Amino acid sequence: MWPLEDIPLSWILGAAFSVAVVIYGLHPIKAWQFQRISGPKAKWLVGNFDAFLTGRGMHLVFMDWARKHGPMFKIWFGAAPVVVVTEPELGRLLILRNGQRLALRGAPDLMTGRDQKLQTSSLVAIKDKTQHRDVKSAWLPMFNSASLDASCSLINHCAEQLCSHLGKYAADGSETDIWRDYGRLTMGVVGTVAFGVDLHTQDEDNSKNSEAAKTLISAAQTLFTQNPFGGNLYSAILLLFPFMVPILKPVARFFPDKEMRKMAAARHLLYDTSEMLLETARKQAAQDGKDAQKVEVAASATGAGGAPVSLEARKQARAVKPGSFMHLLMSSSHTADGSPFTDIEIIAQAFIFLLAGYETTANTLAFTTYSLAANPDKAAKLVEEIDREAPEGDVTAEHLMRMPYVEACIKEALRIYSPAALLGRQLGEDTVIKGHTIPKGTGVMVPVYAIHHDPEIYTDPEVFKPERWLEGTPEYAADKHMAGKWMPFGEGTRVCVGQRLALIEAKIALAHVFRKFTFTLTPGQVPLQTECTLLLKPKMGVFVTPSVRKEE
Ligand code: HEM
Repeated sequence: MWPLEDIPLSWILGAAFSVAVVIYGLHPIKAWQFQRISGPKAKWLVGNFDAFLTGRGMHLVFMDWARKHGPMFKIWFGAAPVVVVTEPELGRLLILRNGQRLALRGAPDLMTGRDQKLQTSSLVAIKDKTQHRDVKSAWLPMFNSASLDASCSLINHCAEQLCSHLGKYAADGSETDIWRDYGRLTMGVVGTVAFGVDLHTQDEDNSKNSEAAKTLISAAQTLFTQNPFGGNLYSAILLLFPFMVPILKPVARFFPDKEMRKMAAARHLLYDTSEMLLETARKQAAQDGKDAQKVEVAASATGAGGAPVSLEARKQARAVKPGSFMHLLMSSSHTADGSPFTDIEIIAQAFIFLLAGYETTANTLAFTTYSLAANPDKAAKLVEEIDREAPEGDVTAEHLMRMPYVEACIKEALRIYSPAALLGRQLGEDTVIKGHTIPKGTGVMVPVYAIHHDPEIYTDPEVFKPERWLEGTPEYAADKHMAGKWMPFGEGTRVCVGQRLALIEAKIALAHVFRKFTFTLTPGQVPLQTECTLLLKPKMGVFVTPSVRKEE
């Protein structure tokens, strides 16, 4: 036997460290707390994290787990247990009742200084309940019916630009990646509808403006390639060892890896654009000599001589003038102390509008077009409705109300290819879920993609059937109906703020595009390959050859 004092201290420390790591990797207390909930077998230290490194998209990984372990199971991100609920009604309630998004440690935790402030101030990321409510209230007037009606003609204009671009491919008989074409449309819509500027994203020339537009779009695209589950080495380490944030932050600041540098460059370009938009709005407000608060389209609550105004005029009075998003934010304040939004807060919202308004809707349009091109019988029904209800000219909000099949096609594409494949929340209090008491602070995930593909709810879930959204059809009758079975936009206080804009924009764009063209899919794309990073998207794009069916 060696006397204890002869053992070098470094050996003792090394052994103690090894024991600590082994125990940490087993996370015995949490494992005991969650022992009665089943789930996929977790590995020491990494938990189930390795499943995301297999190359099978996370939407499909969660669907596999849901089929095997649903309706409720647990997974481990390193030492952090996350409860996954695949039962639609229960999942919806959990999303609805908990206002704090699940934030697993990752790249955003490594940001410092201004980047960190901008990151944490955007509507998507704000954690504080009151601040979130104040900022969301500032956004909301942009999306009321009156504001959206006022924006319709701008969206129509962008859709016409897209058609003229597609016309060139039709004339040549050549293919185009319509996913990227839709991206130029959606960024163009954000420019005019939110900021009142032409971002030149659909210009066909090689001017300075079009080059700047390409750079902006490429930066936005880059940001959507981020993988929320350990996209780079630093965030993979943080996911497994969340307590290492204070150590890794300074290291990452001075030694960022390639992925972090790429993301930072893209982010800065969008921040600079947002800042420039704020400056432009300020100059414009000063030039107009108008109070920044005057962002409404039409004015008075009473008509001439104090006569009550018509319903239409009152509706108009609440409409925000298209392009007034910055003015709206500049005139907003915090309820707690009445302080106006800071520049950082305003720039952070503009940044998110540019990002969220771009890729989500572009993906939705691309998935819908793919589904229609792959199902010509459904495309024929859609075209029949468009030709009947809005055969030419601008597509208005009234036209849209008479086009249920267009809406059903978009809903069905959002079901099969929900851009947000997963929703996550942090439990705000101890919660009993299916008889298990889950402690406050635990992560809960609802795999929307798996629910949208559940054969117990949807008959032939992989088949594109817009009719399942139209009451009275056999397809509608064949499906089960319950709350939470369709949640592409989320639920509750964190529900998508831009949902109505996205749907109106998608309908107008589809009506223009399909009344003018038919699409032939380039062979080899059925079934469509998808991948899931921040959002679900086509893996290689959606390649189609347009043919003119009708000159406008
Ligand atoms: C089809 C298109 C879209 C889809 C599928 C979509 C989906 C979503 C989803 C699933 C959420 C999270 C909800 C939750 O956690 O419960 C969300 C949040 C959000 N979306 Fe969208 N979105 C779309 C279009 C847009 C557009 C056009 C905007 C433009 C402004 C936008 C802005 C936002 C913002 C700011 C949030 C954060 C809301 C909050 O935290 O309160 N989205 N979206």
